[in-house]
Parts: sequence; structure tokens; C-alpha cells
Amino acid sequence: MTVPKKKGKFRIKISILHKIISYAVSLVFATVGISTYIAVSTEREVLSNKLMHQGKRIAKDIAFSTRKALLSSDWSLVEKMLADFTGSDHSEVIYIWLVNPEGKIHIANDISLCGNSVDKGLLDRQDNTSKRFFPERKEYGMLLVNGTVIENRNWYVLVALSSHSINATTKRLIFHNLVSGTFAVLLGTVVSLLLAKSICKPIIGLKQAAATISDGNLDHRVVAESNDEVGDLANTFNDMALKLKKSRAGLEEKVEELATEKELLAITLGGMSEGLIAVDTKKHIILFNTTAEKLSGWKFAEVHGRLIDDIFRIVNEQTNEPLESPINRALQTGIAEFGTPDDALVSKDARLRAVAICSSPIRKKDGAIVGVVTVVRDVSREREIDHMKEDFTSSVSHELRTPLTSIKAYTETILRDPNMPEETRLQFLAVVDEESDRLATLIEDLLEVSRIQSGKAKFKQEPVDVTAIVEKVVTALQPLAEKNNIRLQKTVAENLPELQADAGKIESVVTNLLNNAIKFTPQAGRVSIHVQKTENEMVIRVSDTGMGIPKESLPKIFDRFYRVNRPGKQIQGTGLGLSIVSKIVTMHNGRIDVESDVDKGTTFTVFLPLKAAAAQQHTTTKVCAK
Ligand SMILES: Nc1ncnc2c1ncn2[C@@H]1O[C@H](COP(=O)(O)OP(=O)(O)O)[C@@H](O)[C@H]1O
Ligand SMILES: [Mg+2]
Repeated sequence: MTVPKKKGKFRIKISILHKIISYAVSLVFATVGISTYIAVSTEREVLSNKLMHQGKRIAKDIAFSTRKALLSSDWSLVEKMLADFTGSDHSEVIYIWLVNPEGKIHIANDISLCGNSVDKGLLDRQDNTSKRFFPERKEYGMLLVNGTVIENRNWYVLVALSSHSINATTKRLIFHNLVSGTFAVLLGTVVSLLLAKSICKPIIGLKQAAATISDGNLDHRVVAESNDEVGDLANTFNDMALKLKKSRAGLEEKVEELATEKELLAITLGGMSEGLIAVDTKKHIILFNTTAEKLSGWKFAEVHGRLIDDIFRIVNEQTNEPLESPINRALQTGIAEFGTPDDALVSKDARLRAVAICSSPIRKKDGAIVGVVTVVRDVSREREIDHMKEDFTSSVSHELRTPLTSIKAYTETILRDPNMPEETRLQFLAVVDEESDRLATLIEDLLEVSRIQSGKAKFKQEPVDVTAIVEKVVTALQPLAEKNNIRLQKTVAENLPELQADAGKIESVVTNLLNNAIKFTPQAGRVSIHVQKTENEMVIRVSDTGMGIPKESLPKIFDRFYRVNRPGKQIQGTGLGLSIVSKIVTMHNGRIDVESDVDKGTTFTVFLPLKAAAAQQHTTTKVCAK
């Protein structure tokens, strides 16, 4: 979690800087307040006592000095004497009362009060401070009352002094304290600010360092400026950052290793030619590699976590009947399970693909099954080859049996009838000879293919007259064309140069192409052969108006044993002719193109270099479909 820098700073200020300042200022305030209070109250007490003594002394002085005049009832003298005590030397004196034994004010410096009764309590207390007795004289503030008794006459002298001086002193004291207190607060604020800053600075530094480190910069270090706890904290923090850096480096290394491993695994799984699917025990898909995606048409993102049975449907390729997936069986039996030889995977777009499946349980170390891993291999090509081989076996058997049957039939007839007319016998023997040739050709074809395939075929390098070869083959095939009501045309450019090639093989190429053209062209069609030369090449083009080759079969027609599947109108053959043609052309360093349009016709074009070059091992063919 990252704390925004600004907010963090603000929090530091509030929580530490401000706290320190406010605590310090409050402390100064409290100290100033308490000290002011103590000073003021002490001062007041001292002053009050002083004033009290002064009052007592004045009262005693009055009692002493007025005793005689009082005894002689010389009231005017008494009044005069009292006036001396209220003069400028005694500005603090407010009242002087002489109270008679009846408790009434007999003589007073303020004549208006004469005759008033004095509270008995006031007389009894003799020395007291109270303003409650003189509420009307508020302007004097607190009044101090002191009394003394004149001899045994039961006369009282009461003196009231103004507390004004005390109040003034108190106010001054408070003022001085306020001024010095304000200074103290200001000083306290400044000092605490400096103190707080000095404490906070390393803490803010630490906080910023923490933020920098949390941003990923583990090389950042805090400078430990002091030797105190904050310095220790900075050192500990640096240690922590160092350890963090080390552990992060270790962690990064591990992560990198894991990433590399993961990448490697992904590359391995992705590069596998087999589809790989893993499911958990509840049959939810947890892994689906690229090949599995290609085979099924589903993307991993689409199937991740889905039930395998919804995605991976297996049917019998022949009957289309649903088959139980080996995944289910592997989960039940706990051992590796295989599919059937006719397994076909139903892809997302409902197409069938021949597959071989093997499912094995995935076990933990303790042996508990945690899922099933399934390897799916596309075996379309192998199945096709199997079918081609089966087809080839029956074709070869048929091709071999047909001439053999007639050879046997004719030979038997000749043998059974020794008196057979010579002419008939010769005719029969001619058929036997012809069929034997056909048989020999077929066997030769088979041997040729195997020779070429094994690289044992020997190619001659001799001058070849292509015109003569074409002439010869066309003548040989003319009867077959006529039999099928096909017009066979030949256009050969004049003065063609000779080829450096194997004449027999070139003848085989022309024969195969023309033979195919006639074979795959219906009645009343046209087959033509056209030979010309370009600057460097001899071009032999065989065209027909026959049934054509479907687009999807074009890339396969040069494969051994491959024959286009034409239900209902299958034409006999071995699927070897074009394979031989292609090999021969390649050995002569040439190439062969095919263009075809179903039900319109096919054109094979062979290009042979005029100057013979070293034979190549790879086939160079180009196919075109309209
Ligand atoms: N001119 C053609 N027109 C139509 N299909 C052809 C032609 N030539 C060859 N093919 C197709 O290519 C397949 C392979 O030819 P080839 O190898 O000569 O075998 P085969 O003639 O024994 O069937 C043939 O089975 C045929 O379906
Ligand atoms: Mg053929």
C-alpha cells in the first residue's frame, strides 16, 4: 500500500511537529498561569497583612491619641484628630469611626454616617476584611476593617482602609506576568518549533526514504545525522533496506527462473505437434495447447474451465457413432487409456478429424489423482496413407489379375486344343504376349517406384529426340484413344533440339501423362500433346477435356498410391504413374505444373532444362486449380 507523499508529510506535521509545539506552548501557558496565580495570591496576602497591620496601628494610634479628648467628651477635638488620620499622609484610610458602647457611630470622618448602627459581628471580629459591610462603597474595592477598643470604655475605633493599592499592585503584577508570559510563550513556541523540527527532520527523512523504497528504489539510504534513537532507527532502517534489497534480488531471480521455466513450458507445449489437454478431476479444462486449439477449432480462452465433454467429442470415423472419451476411462481406472483406431474428433465447426488419443491420469506425490492429461495426435495423413495402401493392394491385385486371367485362359485354350487352326493359335499367342507385356509394365512400374524411392534408379545422360518419343507414344496410345472415342492431337514445334536425358524415362513421362489424359476423359473428349521450347527449357504440355481433379486433391496427386476418390465412377489404377512422373522430372532438374477444372479438363506441363544439370532429390511441382 502506498501512502500519498503529501498526505504523509501533512500527517507528520500534524502528529509530531504540531503536537510538540502545542504541548510546549500549553506547558508554557500553564507554567506562566500557575506562576502568575501563585505570585499574585502570595503578593496579595503579603500586602493584605501589611495593610491589616497598618490599619491596626492606625486604630491603636487613634485610640491612644483620642483617649483624653474622648474622656473629656471634647468631640470637636476628636474630630480634628481624626482629620489628621485621613489627610494626605493616610490616603489609604477611607473610614474612621468611633463607635459608642451602644453600637452606633458616634463620630466619623464621613459625618453622614454618624448615628448609624454598626454590625455587632464587625465589632467582635475586630480585625477582618470584608466588603460586605460596605457594599455601597464599591469604588474602593475591598475594604479592610480594623478595630480596637478604647480602654475599658467599650468604645471602638474602626478603621477601613482601601484595598486599592493591593488591587493596583495585583494588576501590575498580572500585567508584568502577562508580558513576560507572552514572551515566554513566544520563546517557547520558537524553541519548541526548532526542537520539533530537529526531531521531525530525521523522521521526515525516514518517511521519505520509506516512500522511496516503497516505490521500488531499494538503493536509497537514510543519513543517520544523530547518535540518538532516531539515528539508531535510521541505521536499522538502512539495514532493513539492505536486507530487503537482497531478498528482492533473490526473489527476482526466482521469479525470472519461474518465468523462464513457464515460457519454456509454454514454448514446449505450444511447439508440440500433438494436442495436449489437461483436465481436473471434475473434468474441467485447465490446459489446452496450440495444437489442441488447431485440432478442435476452440481457443483456450473459450474452453478454460469448461467441461471437457462439451468440447472434446469423439465419434467413430466410419459410423459417426459417439465413442466414450479415454479421458473418462482414465479417470475411472487410474491408468493410461487409449482411443480406438477409428477415433475422430468433432471440431467446433462439426468437422471430423482422424485422431489417435491417449489419456493418462495425473498423480500427486502421494499418488492421489488430480486430473488427466490427454495427448491427441492428428492421424488423418496416416489413415489416408493406410486407405491408399489398401486401395493400392486391391488395385495392384486387380491390375495383375486381369492380364493373368486372360493369359491363363488363352494358354489353356491353346493347350486343350492341339488342332487349333494356326491362325487362331497365333492370334491367341499374340494376346498372351500383349498381356504379358502389360503385366511386365505394371511390375516394372512397381519396381521403378521402389527403385526411385530408394535412390537406386540409374539415369542415363543421352541425347533424346523428344519429337520421336512423342510420335512413338501417340502412335502406341492411338488405339486406346479410338476405343474410347477420344480425339488425340499432337503439336510438336519444328527443329526442336535434343535433350540430354534418359530416353526411356522421358518416354515413361509422356506415356503416363497421355495415358492418364485418355483414361480420365469421357467418350468423345479431346486429348492433346503440345511440345515446344523456350530459351532454356523444353515444354511438354498434355491437356484433356476430361473430368478434372478437385482442388483439395491437387496437392496429393503426385504422392505414391494416391488416387482421387470418385464414388461411383472409380477408374482402375495404382496411383503410381504421377509419382513416377514427378520423380523423373525432378531427377532431370525439371518441374511439373498442373491446372485443373472439375468436369472441364486438366493440363499437365512438364518443363525440362535443355542443358542437363545434376539431379535433385526434391520434387518441384506447382499446382493450380480453377
Ligand atoms: N488427366 C487427368 N484427369 C483427371 N484426373 C487425373 C488425371 N491425371 C491423373 N489424375 C488423377 O490423379 C490420380 C493419380 O494418377 P496416377 O498416379 O497416374 O494413378 P492412376 O492412373 O494409377 O490412378 C489418378 O487416380 C486420377 O484420379
Ligand atoms: Mg496413371
